[in-house]
Amino acid sequence: MKAKKIRCVITAGPTREHLDPVRFFSNGSSGRMGYALAVAALERGWEVVLISGPVSLDPPDGARLVKIVSADDLLAAAEAEFDSCDVIIFCAAVADFRPASRETAKGQKHTGPFSLEMIPNPDVARTLGGRKRAQLTVGFAAETDDLEAKASRKRVNKHLDWIVGNLVGGGRPSMEGGENTILLLGKKGERWEFGPAPKADVADFILGKIAPVLENHG
Ligand code: C5P
Repeated sequence: MKAKKIRCVITAGPTREHLDPVRFFSNGSSGRMGYALAVAALERGWEVVLISGPVSLDPPDGARLVKIVSADDLLAAAEAEFDSCDVIIFCAAVADFRPASRETAKGQKHTGPFSLEMIPNPDVARTLGGRKRAQLTVGFAAETDDLEAKASRKRVNKHLDWIVGNLVGGGRPSMEGGENTILLLGKKGERWEFGPAPKADVADFILGKIAPVLENHG
């Protein structure tokens, strides 16, 4: 009998939190890690839904692309796919805050300092991690220091099965770069280090580690 295809959802790229039609808050993210994961998942024969913020990358052939802009859009899109997926990988660089209100017209330039009210965005990984049943959940943690402790705490707080930690800042390749060095931590105490390596190799390494667990999952 033919094995059922693994259904994989990947969130990728930045979100944009608009203040008015032209101005927004965002995070630096090329989307390359998420897109590399989509390619690696397709190569394994998985079905891929790629929920992506604005990036200048072409989606891989065979992936179903769901375009989003804000964290709220991302949450709605991920919620719609969550119940029917086997694995969800939260790779998006979600903006933590958004302007409390959005103007419909472009705001005029301020001549002096001003303050702006910001409100927290939903944490997509934490929200869905809390609702998980058989799904395998994988998150990312980009930290400037104390990587293992911080990544490990995030894995627990967001109810994730796996977390991929990487160090950023201090002259290291940025989140927008083509390479990555990672620390992969699993809920059963698994611990692997990998890189520096191109994001395609990193993606393949991550999926190679979670795939056997996924096949025995649920
Ligand atoms: O930003 P933070 O370090 O908390 O991100 C850790 C993980 O949580 C990442 O996998 C990211 O995609 C996810 N996340 C999310 N929604 C947020 C913030 C982060 O899904 N609002």
